Amino acid sequence: MKIKKVGIVGWRGMVGQVLMERMQAENDFTLAEYTLFSASETGRAASAQAQIYGRDFGPIADANDLGALKKMDVIITCQGGDYTKQYYPILKREGWSGYWIDAASTLRMEKEATIILDPVNMPVIKKALHAGEKTFVGGNCTVSLMLMGIQGLFQADLIEWISTMTYQAASGAGAKNMEELVAQYGYVGQGLQAKSALELEKKVTGLISSPQLPHANFGHALAYNLLPWIDSEYEMGQSREEWKGFAETNKILQTKTSIPVDGTCARVSVLRCHSQGLTIKLKKNVPLSEIEGLLRDANPWVKFVPNKKELTLSELTPAALSGSLSVGVGRVRKMRIGDEYLNIFTLGDQLLWGAAEPLRRMLRILFE
Ligand code: HSE
Repeated sequence: MKIKKVGIVGWRGMVGQVLMERMQAENDFTLAEYTLFSASETGRAASAQAQIYGRDFGPIADANDLGALKKMDVIITCQGGDYTKQYYPILKREGWSGYWIDAASTLRMEKEATIILDPVNMPVIKKALHAGEKTFVGGNCTVSLMLMGIQGLFQADLIEWISTMTYQAASGAGAKNMEELVAQYGYVGQGLQAKSALELEKKVTGLISSPQLPHANFGHALAYNLLPWIDSEYEMGQSREEWKGFAETNKILQTKTSIPVDGTCARVSVLRCHSQGLTIKLKKNVPLSEIEGLLRDANPWVKFVPNKKELTLSELTPAALSGSLSVGVGRVRKMRIGDEYLNIFTLGDQLLWGAAEPLRRMLRILFE
């Protein structure tokens, strides 16, 4: 199938904006004829014929217009799960045979969907393409970042199981949540004065419990706080986010025997980098130098940070990696529990490898 027309839905949202910026930076807009779709009338009117990202995309199309959608050879959507739920089944039912590339989780575990993270699972993607599959979905951000970080250990088939303790940024919950986090700090910090650290703490704790604290999105304070539950309640006491760690890791890698992955997912007051502390049970005792080499060489995006205090504090942090495609990997050491137990800290920008980047790379793969 020759791809000529690509439609982008949800390009104004946070993931959509990051996607558009990356596509512009990588010259992806020269690949095809692009149509930008907007789900709202005001959006269409406001940006009709607008010069966006340095180009004239022509009139903004209506994201609810099935006829216009059906003309596309590829639809990339960052519009969210509700849009996918509404339009994907209708398009399929009505015989649309284009490629659907989606940032939302809705279709991820469907049989016809392939989770895309090409540096890690290119063979799985190629197999799906050869089988005529048309549905490609970006993975959960935490899972994708973990797989990019420790790809070398998966490739060497060294992992028996992983415990993942996550420190997830506000952006994973959405743009409004990110704004709310900053607003919470603003609310607490306004005119705050105290004679001692303890008095300051009392005032802050009072303010984060106040009903006036902006909390419409998180429902709670994230500023000066931590929220150890992400997404809905799942089974066996897990959160849905925790369940995804196991389900998506094994689907992305198409493992023959499932690799157990489990842990606690927590939201922390960081803007857009997800971090995780991993405990990995290795299948055998491998020297640390060999492990470091495997991690370092797995893909060009791994930024390996030697396990030294100063390097770690300056290079292995959300502040250092926000806005970067690098995936930090550090704190690599054998644990006192035993020689087959490995400690790793890994992190990356949740909006890049965790969301937008695999989508634009999938489009490139279709052209290749
Ligand atoms: N579920 C993730 C989070 C978002 O809440 O951080 C990215 O998949």
